[in-house]
Order: sequence, then C-alpha cells, then structure tokens
Amino acid sequence: MFEEGQLYSPVTESEDGQVTVHLSADHPGFADEAYRKRRNDIAQLALRWEPGTPVPDVGYNDDEHRVWQTVSRELRPKHEKLAIREYVEALDAVGLPTEYVPSLDEVSERIEPLTGFRYVPAPGLVPLRQFYGSLSDKIFHSTQYVRHPDQPLYTPEPDIVHEVIGHGHLLATPTFSELHRLTGEATHRLKDEDNLRFLSKVFWFSVEFGVVMEDSELKAYGAGILSSYGEIDEFRDMELRPLNLVEMGTADYDITHYQPVLYRAESLDEVREVVGGFLKTCTDDSIEEMRREHVLA
Ligand SMILES: [Fe+2]
Repeated sequence: MFEEGQLYSPVTESEDGQVTVHLSADHPGFADEAYRKRRNDIAQLALRWEPGTPVPDVGYNDDEHRVWQTVSRELRPKHEKLAIREYVEALDAVGLPTEYVPSLDEVSERIEPLTGFRYVPAPGLVPLRQFYGSLSDKIFHSTQYVRHPDQPLYTPEPDIVHEVIGHGHLLATPTFSELHRLTGEATHRLKDEDNLRFLSKVFWFSVEFGVVMEDSELKAYGAGILSSYGEIDEFRDMELRPLNLVEMGTADYDITHYQPVLYRAESLDEVREVVGGFLKTCTDDSIEEMRREHVLA
C-alpha cells in the first residue's frame, strides 16, 4: 500500500524484537486483545521477510476467512453494476477464491501470467518512494492483515481486501497495470519529494478514486472505491469534477472519510491520455510548473 502515515496503524519494533501494531482508540479492533496479537504477528512476518524468498504463510483463521467470504459475496454484484468493464472482465480472468483468503503468493500466481505483476508483503506503511518505485518492476507491496470481524464491510485502514480485491483486479487489466507501472517509472524520474507527493495525489484521485463515463453511465475504476462497500454505493452522489491534473495534484484531502470530490473522465481513453500521458512525461520541472500554476490560480 502506499498512502501517507495517518491511513496506517504505525508498526514499531522494540529492542528485544517485539513487533507492535498501534491501533488507534477508535479502531474496531482496539479492545480486542486476540485481534491485536494477530495484527502484531502478521506484521512481524512481513518485517522478517527477505526479498526472493516465498511470502510467509499467514495461516488465515476462520474469522478471517468469514470476513473474506462476506466481502466477496457483497461486492461482486456491485462490481457487475458499477465497475468499468475491464475490471469486471478481470474478476473472471483472475478468478480469486471467494471462500478463503488467498495468500499473496496465490494472488501473484493468478495475476503474473496476465500482466506480470507480483505481490510482496508489507507490515504497514511503505515509504512513498519505495512503494511507487517498485511498481516499475511490477512489484506491489501489500499488507496481509484482515479487517476486524465485527465490521466486515468497513475498515479504517487498507487491508488485504483493499490490496487484492481493489488493486489486484486493476493490476490484471491492460489499462491499469500500465498506469501502475508508469507510476513507478515516473517516481524514478522525480528527485524532489514535493513533486513525488504531487504524483501521489494524481494517483490517489485516479487509480484509487477515479470514476469514468462508460456507455453513458458513471462507473468506478478506483481501487479505493471498488474495495469499499460504503464508497461503492456513494460515489455517484459525490461532487464530480472534470479531470484536472493541477487540481488533483495539489488537492488537500482527508483520507479518513469518503472522498467528497471525485474526478470524472469522459472515457477510458481520456484516463489513458491525461493520467497516462502525465505519468509518461512528468519531470521535476514540469510538475514544478504545474504547482506554480496552482499558486497563481
Ligand atoms: Fe490503495
């Protein structure tokens, strides 16, 4: 996962090697000792993982499988109605299990033959430069924990449901596997951290929360919408604005709430031309120019 700090529960490691995930007081799992221990154990497995070795087996339990079953069952009909065609086609092409939480290796085995993307484990927040930079090598850093079973259709943080059901199906499409990869290439061109944040916001309002007209209907293509039971029902009622890179890249947004403003493309071609074109060509100079444009506007 990629976004900024507040979206993630911080993960710390003490001198004696104890890994702790710090859930906030309003997290659904805050008072659940067993859940907290589980989160610590899963984060520890990711921290100890070495690239090039198999992804550690998390050994999902019955509660976690039940959450996955519920989310899979509830989201599928919504995807068929509200997601773009490429995404719906990817649901069948990837063929994720609906009865159990797949391991990241299983996810990779299903997606890699389609577009080359593979999953590696992340304990929590991955620094922006590392998360985005890896996309050029078709590597996706993913959390492995599952949201709290009391609220299977809600999560304050990006869990494996978001990473796999949201991003995984996009990573299996021609259009969005390429936009993820181009984001990685753009990251390598940018040396300035403020410009990288501009890029991350363009990514946020497109790959995470983008909507587009398809066959005269408003459809979602953003992973954040398509993995959220709440947002997928709400996005048609949000304030919609035309794609505008300067606005997207400089917007202030609150990632802890539904996105009140979404950027609507008139076609998938427009997404490829505007967002893809930006990712292919942006440099520190061109983004600084856009940021100046914003200040003058
Ligand atoms: Fe995401």
